[in-house]
Amino acid sequence: MRIEDTEFFKGFVRMADDGWNMGWHERNGGNLSYRLKKEEVESINSSFSCGEWENIGVTVPLLAEEFFMVTGSGKFFRNVKDKPEDSVCIIEIDDKGEKYRIVWGLINGGRPTSELPTHLMNHQAKKRITNGKYRVVYHAHTTNIIALTYILPLKDEIFTRHLWEMATECPVVFPDGIGVVEWMVPGGRDIAEATEKLMEKYDAVVWAHHGLFATGEDFDLTFGLMHTIEKAAEILIKVFSTRFDKLQTIMPDDFRRLAKDFNVNLPERFLQ
Ligand code: 13P
Ligand code: ZN
Repeated sequence: MRIEDTEFFKGFVRMADDGWNMGWHERNGGNLSYRLKKEEVESINSSFSCGEWENIGVTVPLLAEEFFMVTGSGKFFRNVKDKPEDSVCIIEIDDKGEKYRIVWGLINGGRPTSELPTHLMNHQAKKRITNGKYRVVYHAHTTNIIALTYILPLKDEIFTRHLWEMATECPVVFPDGIGVVEWMVPGGRDIAEATEKLMEKYDAVVWAHHGLFATGEDFDLTFGLMHTIEKAAEILIKVFSTRFDKLQTIMPDDFRRLAKDFNVNLPERFLQ
């Protein structure tokens, strides 16, 4: 089967293009990765041609011998739809979880996203916690979330509570809340470890003055989570642009009633 004809490939390209159209991917901003299913690998591996093994920079033993579709470093989301074979690649992880090699794509050279350590550490945590259900990790430069990191204290509880208040669907879509990583140098092991620690509790993590990471089972749920959080942030920025307080809002007891009716668990620490 041609890689371009598979459902996962079409879903990946569509999501990258949707993100571009949302305005979240200026220049080469943002990156996307998807962990392939065994049957997907088997249906396309006759088109693979293997490159050299390279160090990942972190060790991800739980991902040994897995395959990922990943955006390339320095590649523009804007181009993914028209030139996928130049913009994205499929990589294979070695049997120890220490190295990767490109088996398809990036035909004009290049390497996977510089945030590969964070993507793979998030995949490893989510594969373990969700019993393999989660397959997508997405990083975008979402304008309003970034703006909030200049005016709100960088605390999980404060970001979560403010965003929950911005739309009744928010606590239902991300009942576990969201995490916040203070400003750090991107692209390396330290920020990957800090993000992974929070991804053990949450499905989304803010990078202060930089963007947002979201994870999920499939492209729809992961894109939907990114979109819901960024839209809530946009509403909050609009509210704050009008006045720096709220005249009325969704109150702690309202969240408790919502949790009961929608059958979600909203931790009390977000409601104090
Ligand atoms: P890459 O082009 O290496 O994916 O980097 C973009 C980015 O958003 C870094 O955080
Ligand atoms: Zn980034």
